[in-house]
Amino acid sequence: MNQVMEVLMKRRSVRAYEERKVSAEVRAEILKATLRAPTAGNLMLYSILDITDQQVKDKLAVTCDHQPFIARAPMVWVFLADYQRWYDYFLASGVEELCARRGLALEKPSESDLFLACCDAMIAAQNAVIAAESFGLGSCYIGDIMEQYETHRDLLDLPPYVFPIGMVVFGYPTQQQKDRELTSRFDEKFIVFENKYRRLGGSDFDEMFASRQLPKGRAMEGIENIGQAAYVNKFGADFSIEMRRSVREMLKAWSG
Ligand SMILES: Cc1cc2nc3c(=O)[nH]c(=O)nc-3n(C[C@H](O)[C@H](O)[C@H](O)COP(=O)(O)O)c2cc1C
Repeated sequence: MNQVMEVLMKRRSVRAYEERKVSAEVRAEILKATLRAPTAGNLMLYSILDITDQQVKDKLAVTCDHQPFIARAPMVWVFLADYQRWYDYFLASGVEELCARRGLALEKPSESDLFLACCDAMIAAQNAVIAAESFGLGSCYIGDIMEQYETHRDLLDLPPYVFPIGMVVFGYPTQQQKDRELTSRFDEKFIVFENKYRRLGGSDFDEMFASRQLPKGRAMEGIENIGQAAYVNKFGADFSIEMRRSVREMLKAWSG
């Protein structure tokens, strides 16, 4: 295996960190790799917030569905899907006048622009994750940054065409984290199809989930299978309901 493959194949999410800072040199290298990520139209439709204020980290640890390890991570980056910068530049560049001269309506950032900006932001985030990994620095994505839109907008000073699509927390893994087994993935036959999509059903599901263990705990009482557990713990859970509300609220700016 080459070194890139080794880094990719050994990577796992890290949620407990050694008391060790990330040096300015390592941070700079990670950032360099991050900013080299492919980007739609070479527009760089994203911004990165480097959260260095401990009070803000503490707040995010609460607002992102109560995940205390966020506050203990030495490096916390929020990846923002960002069309505000370009839209402001369009207006500053006389695009309104140009449109008027040509008899065109002025276009505004819309849902498709948001999707593209989200792609850019998350591709950059994954470059950061892999670059960090290559320096022995673990990481964990925090999807819950999509919750509590209004709170995060006010906390982070976000204008209307900026949305925090992902947060990544970085830190040097404790020995226990390094020793943890890798999580499993579904077999490729359930994920990769040739030419046309194949909708799964019945016996596919039996095979797909055969090796997965049901989570334990009191909340699992009366839960019969992985589908019910995933619905209760993830899809139908309070955090998912809040995320749906939050994203709908954010979308108002983009669908106006
Ligand atoms: C978009 C995204 C959002 C995630 N959000 C969280 C999160 O809020 N909290 C957390 O502990 N892990 C989060 N994770 C990490 C996943 O739980 C983890 O990647 C998955 O369980 C597989 O484990 P592994 O990364 O160790 O292989 C997220 C991962 C992704 C890609």
